[in-house]
Amino acid sequence: MLCKICKSKGKRTKAVIYLRHHRLALCKEHFVEWFEKQVQKTVKQFKMFSRKEKVAVAVSGGKDSLSLWLALHRLGYETYGIHISLGIEGWNYSEKSLEVCRKFSERIGRPLIVFNLKEEFGYTIEEIAKGAGRRDVCSVCGTFKRYLMNRIAKEHGFKVLATGHNLDDESALLLSNTMRWEIGYLGRQYPVLPEEGGFVRKVKPFCFLTEKETVSYAILNRIEYMETGCPNAKEATSRVYKQALALLEHKMPGTKLRFYKEFLKRARPIFEKELKEQLELNECEVCGMPTTAPVCSVCRTLERLKNAEGGEN
Ligand code: AMP
Ligand code: FES
Ligand code: ZN
Ligand code: ZN
Repeated sequence: MLCKICKSKGKRTKAVIYLRHHRLALCKEHFVEWFEKQVQKTVKQFKMFSRKEKVAVAVSGGKDSLSLWLALHRLGYETYGIHISLGIEGWNYSEKSLEVCRKFSERIGRPLIVFNLKEEFGYTIEEIAKGAGRRDVCSVCGTFKRYLMNRIAKEHGFKVLATGHNLDDESALLLSNTMRWEIGYLGRQYPVLPEEGGFVRKVKPFCFLTEKETVSYAILNRIEYMETGCPNAKEATSRVYKQALALLEHKMPGTKLRFYKEFLKRARPIFEKELKEQLELNECEVCGMPTTAPVCSVCRTLERLKNAEGGEN
């Protein structure tokens, strides 16, 4: 297959990728150009951030978040990486992830802000989950990551935080919320969540790009990323929704993108109207982050752990 753009300029270049749902075959150069243009378009369409704003990019060391950092950097935004090091020992997962993020930050010459859980809180995420009597490390981890991303971004003076969620993630989440008619989640699922009530603005500039596209961008740009996921990740239900969507996509190319885009345009405004009054948020007495209780759930978990330890001695 030949690159469509090269062909239109009278040049015959072999395509490296065929984007079935866009009916577009592209060479390396034109795919990278197309990809970055898509990101810029999404940033503009949802007014995610301006060129004057510093952008914090949450990087896990995976293909999506590192590709996002590179794309935003190349598009001329002032970017900073934020990495949360969770202390996961299996497969040397956390150590390797940090190394990958450090190397990448050096490559593009941009700073990386690292938050080390064990150093800052005295416990790894597994110790925290165990202490809280929770077997599903991942859900505790999710709560801590969301909390920390917001806190670190705020403490460093960022107004906006970008994550690497792609179209596969967003459409799977949409399908799962739809199957359960989670009106509240459906009303809130959006590529931009505004800065409010102690939360920084959260944006997902890859929401219209598929995983195949982000992985291709990473490989074509020789990004060294973590190929294995977290060792604690169980067979997540989101995987099943991704498989279901992959089948639909295979039979009807463009389904995923249409499903998500039409939701944003036509369905979400209806659910948004159903959203009840936001719960009153106040500042956590311990850390100052937004919470509905006097002390936030992260501080409560940490306090309980410390008390339990004190009791043992
Ligand atoms: P996940 O929930 O693991 O699929 O991650 C979704 C997004 O959260 C990634 O694309 C990153 O932007 C961000 N993220 C996940 N883990 C970390 C981490 N340890 N440190 C910083 N950001 C992360
Ligand atoms: Fe946190 Fe899996 S336990 S990434
Ligand atoms: Zn080309
Ligand atoms: Zn707190």
